[in-house]
Amino acid sequence: MATNRTFTMIKPDATGANNVGAITKMIEEAGFRIIAMKKTALSKELAGKFYAIHKERPFYNDLCAYMSSGAIVPMILEKDNAVEDFRKLIGATDPAKAAPGTIRNLFAKSIEANAIHGSDSDENAAIEGAFFFSQFEQF
Ligand code: PPS
Repeated sequence: MATNRTFTMIKPDATGANNVGAITKMIEEAGFRIIAMKKTALSKELAGKFYAIHKERPFYNDLCAYMSSGAIVPMILEKDNAVEDFRKLIGATDPAKAAPGTIRNLFAKSIEANAIHGSDSDENAAIEGAFFFSQFEQF
């Protein structure tokens, strides 16, 4: 059965463009509750750890460099069917293919600078949330 939490991270293009408020508003209006949230930045080494699952992919180094190029806003979110519903809300990885009205359709600049991350499974949501937040930071 699906759990009710997912993990997301607003990426450097969207924090740099001052879109944190607009994106967070969309997330809340879609029925997600913010359980944990902060503004921070990743070193290239930490980005490498977070994205280790993709280390064999050709874009891995570019992805880690990009994700350590500016501020990020990681969040844990709660809603029924959170992982699947959140992936629908953000749209396809490539903003050119993201459905109208999705976060990536509205805010992403490219397949690399694509505004926001969303966990792809309940298992990864738990791992990724724990990467950024202790149990005492989740309300
Ligand atoms: S997903 O969400 O895992 O199904 O998407 P996927 O297409 O497998 O991509 C995994 C993450 O890699 C990023 N990505 C890229 N970064 C830089 N350059 C290129 N060409 C590229 N292609 C994919 C993509 O934004 C995904 O990041 P996250 O943070 O998981 O959304």
